Amino acid sequence: MIETKEQPERLILVAVSTGSTDFAEKSLDELSELVDTAGGITVGRIIQNRENIHPGTYLGSGKLDELIELLYVTRADGIVCDDELSPAQLRNMEDILKTRVLDRTLVILDIFAKHATTHEGKIQVELAQLRYRATRLTGMGNSLSRQGGGIGTRGPGEKKLETDRRILHERISVLRAELKSVVRHREVTRQKRSDSMLPFAAVVGYTNAGKSTLFNRLTGAGVLAQDQLFATLDPSVRMMEGNDGQKLLLSDTVGFINKLPHNLIEAFKSTLEETKYADMIFHVVDASDPQMDLHMYVVYDTLRELGITDKPILTIFNKMDLVEKDEEGKPVGYFKDSRADYVCMVSAVSGQGMDHLERTIKDMLRSQNIFVEKLFSYQQLGKMQLLREFGQILTEEYTEDGVRVTGYIPARFFANLYD
Ligand code: GTP
Repeated sequence: MIETKEQPERLILVAVSTGSTDFAEKSLDELSELVDTAGGITVGRIIQNRENIHPGTYLGSGKLDELIELLYVTRADGIVCDDELSPAQLRNMEDILKTRVLDRTLVILDIFAKHATTHEGKIQVELAQLRYRATRLTGMGNSLSRQGGGIGTRGPGEKKLETDRRILHERISVLRAELKSVVRHREVTRQKRSDSMLPFAAVVGYTNAGKSTLFNRLTGAGVLAQDQLFATLDPSVRMMEGNDGQKLLLSDTVGFINKLPHNLIEAFKSTLEETKYADMIFHVVDASDPQMDLHMYVVYDTLRELGITDKPILTIFNKMDLVEKDEEGKPVGYFKDSRADYVCMVSAVSGQGMDHLERTIKDMLRSQNIFVEKLFSYQQLGKMQLLREFGQILTEEYTEDGVRVTGYIPARFFANLYD
């Protein structure tokens, strides 16, 4: 990561396209944003069309020559490959190019290191970084030698990462033990939340979709929202309360991203794991992004990978204020999602569509509730309290025999009304 006094690192982006070049270009556009978020600047890019990535040197020899020339012309400080490099590829490329060689994983890890705020988040980032390094210690000669840091050398809390193998492995053991105790603590917190019996929704979405901004608007929480990728790295749960008193717990999760390295999905399971315990999913989409369809695909693919396939989904097309409108003021584009149970269009910044969103959330909660019509005797008023606290009372009529009530109760409490 870049020190304040230091010049930003000048980097050349490198990709191998084994399918459509268009896809590789878009992936490099995103890599360029990642580099920018990590504090570097892109000064060139090279894409090689090949049937397969070269197992030894990532690129073929002709392209490597071209890259050496480009490094010279642009006076770049290093290169970033769009795929995770094997230790051998890293070492060979360094030998040939005589410059810093980074890959997409290292850049993402660096951004994670910058943004992790909670104790658990920091431990997980450092662990993921150390594991990445542990397998590549023989390489990374140039890549770790940049004076004063550079992308890929910073640990959480600005700590310079250790490069000695023994110290590195010791540190991994310490962190593992620490993580265990933090995870135990998280289990307790989760248990407390599930004891609260409140319905729980997880806010997911591609990075930069506007999850934190929307989350803040819905809950009034001060979660960091920045126009940078991965501003959110830690699970954050807040309560949202509708004007009818209906309560809902919302959790903001880490942004999903294409080609998120598998070990990172593992490392950040904690933030995504919240999603497994959710009663419903709020899927936030940046409707103004030309890559919207790909982003939605990545989110669904990641959810599937996490085994989350059977929860009701509300897709929220956000940033509608930025979407082009026709003469009648209607948004131009296709804002539908066949995989979602509910769809809304909003702008978390301007507030447009928020009423509809809140009504939709209410409908969603109601659809998980069961309609109740019951006469509670005066001895049963405790049960009626369940309805008041966790469900919704529509009408109540006081009679000689008790209170006649209609309303909705979450399915999990239904049996309690009649036992
Ligand atoms: P990650 O932490 O990367 O996953 O991002 P996120 O999905 O939590 O996005 P965040 O809320 O940080 O918003 C990203 C950027 O989009 C910020 O600059 C927001 O101000 C901006 N943004 C969010 N919602 C809207 C919107 O409705 N309209 C406009 N114009 N900008 C928005």
